[in-house]
Amino acid sequence: MHLSRRGLLSGSAGVAAVSLAGCSAGEDSVQLSGFTGIAMPATDSDRWVIEGEVMEQLLKDKGYQTVLEYAENNADDQIAQIQSMVDQGAEFLIIGAVDNTSLGQVLLQAKNQGVYIIAYDRLILETPDVDYYASFDNNQVGVLQAEHIIKKLDLENQDGPFNIELFSGSLTDSNSEYFFQGGLDTLERYIYEDKIRILSGQTEQDVTATKDWNGVVAMDRMTELLETYYEDDPLHAVLSPYDGISRGIVAALKEGGYNPGADDFPIVTGQDAEARSVRAIKEGNGQTQTVFKDTRDLADIAVSMVEAIVAGRTPEVNDLGTYENGFKHVPAYLLEPVNVDASNYVEILIDSEYLTAEEIDNAEEDLEF
Ligand code: BGC
Repeated sequence: MHLSRRGLLSGSAGVAAVSLAGCSAGEDSVQLSGFTGIAMPATDSDRWVIEGEVMEQLLKDKGYQTVLEYAENNADDQIAQIQSMVDQGAEFLIIGAVDNTSLGQVLLQAKNQGVYIIAYDRLILETPDVDYYASFDNNQVGVLQAEHIIKKLDLENQDGPFNIELFSGSLTDSNSEYFFQGGLDTLERYIYEDKIRILSGQTEQDVTATKDWNGVVAMDRMTELLETYYEDDPLHAVLSPYDGISRGIVAALKEGGYNPGADDFPIVTGQDAEARSVRAIKEGNGQTQTVFKDTRDLADIAVSMVEAIVAGRTPEVNDLGTYENGFKHVPAYLLEPVNVDASNYVEILIDSEYLTAEEIDNAEEDLEF
């Protein structure tokens, strides 16, 4: 799916979707002050820290009161934080969920008080009480990661067979499934043609999952895979969904005897354009690719949704049919993710001022992933 601003849906389709959600932004609504609670999942991933600050600033610039909390991957803490935001009088919630199925009860209470709920980046499942979804085309993230592997192994021209292993993210994050499925669907043809082999046979999401998107967890699994399946056979590539996980995988590969920079170092994908990973991509020292999602734009979309509702308008969306949450298709605004490798990181990341050259060069190659 390729989205463009030209494909925007607004007006009647959007209005219909909103009234189905049981909250009208119509003439009879009370005057809203714009008070917004921002509930972010954790500070261990660079992006949430950047976005939390950007959203807070944008909302404050509009004169809206804000409260920003991080749950450090603890679902119960996030529920308590959201409850407290509602108790403080928040009229809007922008939520990057820790656990996509645990928020039903607290959101029901919020909705009963007329709060508008925006699922941020991660879809919230099994509740009717989500008004909008602001995210990226998550399936495309996995497609870009798989396409990098296909290109680097030259699978159009080479027969292989090449050995690859698959990693996926947290099972409590609905994005994981979209990333993983996008990647797997793209690789499937080559698995079928026997150009790609997965020696572990681990192709299901539950066995490939990485709790809390944690690099140490990924490192341990990679070590075990190497010891169990790759004593005698080479590993050629790893489909990894997120930079923190990728750095854990690279650490395990190094410990397992692979030499970064050497031609036989496995191809490793990633996501989020974190400075430490971009440094490795630049220096040819481990991870070879990442997916850039311009989170400044996503923050802007979420804040525009709040602003539209305060002004009595229906927020713009560009997708009504993709994100089914168990109750309904949540009206969404999806942005496009971008492939980044050594050939384009300057143009995509530095020229756009997402990262500076210094931030990349000075990024620590520490072991905390
Ligand atoms: C986000 C990714 C991020 C991951 C780990 C996902 O929900 O979409 O951008 O890498 O969480 O924080």
